[in-house]
Amino acid sequence: MDKIKSMMRAVQYSKYGGGVADLKHVEVPVPSPKKDEVLIKVETASINPIDWKLQDGVARPFLPRKFPHIPGTDVAGEVVQVGSDVQSFKVGENVVAVLGNGGALAEYAVANEGSTVSRPPEVSAREAAALPIAGLAAHQSLTQLAGLKLDGTGPEVNVLVTAASGGVGQYAVQLLKLANAHVTATCGARNIDLVRSLGADEVLDYRTPDGVALKSPSGRKYDVIIHCAHNIPWSTFEANLTSKGKVVDTTPGFGTLMSVAFKKITFAKKQLIPLFTSPKKENLEFLVKLVKEGKLKPVIDSVHPLSKAEEAWAKSIDGHATGKILVEP
Ligand SMILES: NC(=O)c1ccc[n+]([C@@H]2O[C@H](COP(=O)([O-])OP(=O)(O)OC[C@H]3O[C@@H](n4cnc5c(N)ncnc54)[C@H](OP(=O)(O)O)[C@@H]3O)[C@@H](O)[C@H]2O)c1
Repeated sequence: MDKIKSMMRAVQYSKYGGGVADLKHVEVPVPSPKKDEVLIKVETASINPIDWKLQDGVARPFLPRKFPHIPGTDVAGEVVQVGSDVQSFKVGENVVAVLGNGGALAEYAVANEGSTVSRPPEVSAREAAALPIAGLAAHQSLTQLAGLKLDGTGPEVNVLVTAASGGVGQYAVQLLKLANAHVTATCGARNIDLVRSLGADEVLDYRTPDGVALKSPSGRKYDVIIHCAHNIPWSTFEANLTSKGKVVDTTPGFGTLMSVAFKKITFAKKQLIPLFTSPKKENLEFLVKLVKEGKLKPVIDSVHPLSKAEEAWAKSIDGHATGKILVEP
């Protein structure tokens, strides 16, 4: 293992709303792990829409906690230092982590022991870094919110996944193969073959009239919709749901929360459920294990050097990635 440097390269932004233009390449001190943290030499980081949404001010004034801020939550790399209370990791171990306070777009990052998991040799750093937020979002949407079992023991369900070519959607479709599910998916025309190869039984081009209407080609109604796209009105969902169908909204805005409250008050049978992903270690371990066993294959859109992190940032903002966007120091 190389000696830990005192300074590292990183990408920072300094305010809300600055976009790609406010990403600056800087040399900053390597962070020191607190007693329950590990210091990771980053091999690969991945970008999620939440990274640039935080920069836009979606959680203003709470997050980021302070400026300048090194963004990014998902990293895979090698543990190079451990805090005094850390029990589960040793220097030299390969890990994947969710960073609670950003820091992924850098050569080194600190992660809480509780949101760090081991990366076995069968899982590459790129595959691992592609997992955390998007994989956890898909997993928690299906299991905790939709109540599906990923061991095939549940009753047969019809599920629709919107934006199945994106970071979250690709995992939702693949995980649904482990459940007793018939999967309909939406994506752009160029990704139809890919989404079918991930396990979707039926695929709709979202720019066609049937795609806009979310109409199942085989005439099925959906028990569950995992909604990873934007701007689809409730009336479109409602027309396609079974009588007790559920929509899990991965991007809950104010309108979703008002709608959830209204449905509760009126005892509506068709439910709208907001997703707030949590960095649960056991869920991330499960995803890593699936990749190790060849049951889950992260789709990688592109890999960008840290020196060109702004290209990765702009690509994510553009909203047309196929799978995950990665960055490497
Ligand atoms: N609540 C949470 O805790 C949580 C956690 C994770 C993610 N999220 C949110 O979930 C959403 C999805 O995240 P992501 O990482 O999957 O995004 P992403 O990777 O940026 O999604 C891009 C993909 O979406 C496709 N797409 C765009 N509009 C579509 C539409 N109307 N119908 C079908 N496909 C469409 C694009 O296809 P084309 O290129 O063909 O247009 C592209 O392949 C984001 O808003 C993110 O912030 C929330």
